[in-house]
Amino acid sequence: MIVLALPRGRVLDASVAFLAACGMQVPPEIHATRRLQLESGDGACRFILVKPVDVPTYVEYGVADAGICGTDVLWEQSPDVHQPLDLQFGRCRMVLAGKPGTPARSATRIATKYPRTAERFFRERGVAVEVIPLSGSVELAPALGLAELIIDLVETGNTLRDNGLVVIEEILQCSARLIINRASFHTRQQEIARLLDSMEKQLSW
Ligand code: PRP
Repeated sequence: MIVLALPRGRVLDASVAFLAACGMQVPPEIHATRRLQLESGDGACRFILVKPVDVPTYVEYGVADAGICGTDVLWEQSPDVHQPLDLQFGRCRMVLAGKPGTPARSATRIATKYPRTAERFFRERGVAVEVIPLSGSVELAPALGLAELIIDLVETGNTLRDNGLVVIEEILQCSARLIINRASFHTRQQEIARLLDSMEKQLSW
């Protein structure tokens, strides 16, 4: 049985729809249950439901053979895993944002859920900033004076707009990716090959 780590939250529905389209028998209760481990109808796969930022940890340590994970998380964490497929859903952008007219180079404090990405972004531009790590509601920071700028995800743009912020610069185009544990790639070659094959077929359909 192959173990697949799925991200709870906003990408779960799209992940489950994609897996079902690939022919996996995902149990329908996956959307409602509080159980964090479920088996596929044919017993070929066990799904574990974890926070999106934790998917690489489960896969890197081999607790899961594979997982579905956003480019934003992979960019931030640089986990030691295979990343064979862009699954083409969960599309969004990682951006630098702030109140209209805030010059990027004058900012001293940046609030974000992506502290390593923020450090790297400003270091590459030779700008010294203080990065303030937050775990959510990042768009509040400029309004309340916690930071001049934020680095965060934008999907519809509603959260930025409703909090009086605008995109200053795009940093990264994001989407969901399949990641695979390096050892599983070799020790479970057949199952992984079958999984990849079904996903590639579905993506090219
Ligand atoms: C994400 C992201 C933005 C928002 C963007 O947060 O961090 O805040 O969605 O989406 P939009 O452009 O469609 O408005 P999430 O909803 O996951 O909640 P969080 O603030 O608790 O991280």
